Amino acid sequence: MTLRKILIEPNEILRKKSLKVESVDFDVQKLMDDMLETMYAAPGIGLAAIQIGVPKRVIVLDIAQKDGPKNPMYFVNPEIIQKSSNNSTYEEGCLSLPGQFAEIARSDKCSLKYLDYHGQPKELETEGMLATCIQHEIDHLEGILFIDYLSKLKKSMIVKKLSKQKEQLDRIVI
Ligand code: NI
Repeated sequence: MTLRKILIEPNEILRKKSLKVESVDFDVQKLMDDMLETMYAAPGIGLAAIQIGVPKRVIVLDIAQKDGPKNPMYFVNPEIIQKSSNNSTYEEGCLSLPGQFAEIARSDKCSLKYLDYHGQPKELETEGMLATCIQHEIDHLEGILFIDYLSKLKKSMIVKKLSKQKEQLDRIVI
């Protein structure tokens, strides 16, 4: 497994639409292994392949309790087949928007179909935090970040802050 670099907004690659995976072969499994390791190291609870610069419809998640056993989940070509019209709101963050958080309302339940780590077709009904995480990650596959749901002003303030942080990082590298 290899630690991969997580892309930070603003970065036009994060805005790309990810492509469907044709078959869950060894390379895709290796990608999922790398993504999981990168996510745990960050640390985070979800990661989409595009966040490490790979435009493939692949997501990993682990929403298990911190001190409990790990519970990695892998989703290839995830597709939401049903969504509740009731919303729930969580304060969301994102590994591509370090240090930034905002309350985002999303459907409180959603059902999806996907391929698992071994390429087997699966269906899953989700609710609560898992439903929110799935919707956040599927947004990444469409090039959408949670800041896109905020007002123009709030969004531009966050992007400005992140751009400044990036500049500072560059200076330290020298
Ligand atoms: Ni994210």
